[in-house]
Amino acid sequence: MVQIQVVEFNGAIHDVEALEGQTLLQATLDAGIDGFAAECGGCCVCATCHCMVAPEALDRLPAAASDEEQMLDFTAEPRQANSRLACQIKITSDLAGIQFLMPKRQY
Ligand code: FES
Repeated sequence: MVQIQVVEFNGAIHDVEALEGQTLLQATLDAGIDGFAAECGGCCVCATCHCMVAPEALDRLPAAASDEEQMLDFTAEPRQANSRLACQIKITSDLAGIQFLMPKRQY
């Protein structure tokens, strides 16, 4: 298990026990956290699983692949330097303690 933290736009903080190898999207769904519409089911074609990585932890994630990079231009809330797509973030032990922030809206 990898302990991560997800912070909703309203400030609600969730400690999440994620499984190595699953995506951030799946980990949040398993934890019962609302906030990712994830319309495409994790196929990287909808941009409704937008999240932000805590800025100080951004370099702990591998760089976004080109398809994620392209989809990040279509997020409902303006893309930020630390924006990522939750369906493309694979949980690894390197991410222990990392914090992800949810935007106000996904549409
Ligand atoms: S769930 Fe559609 S892009 Fe992530």
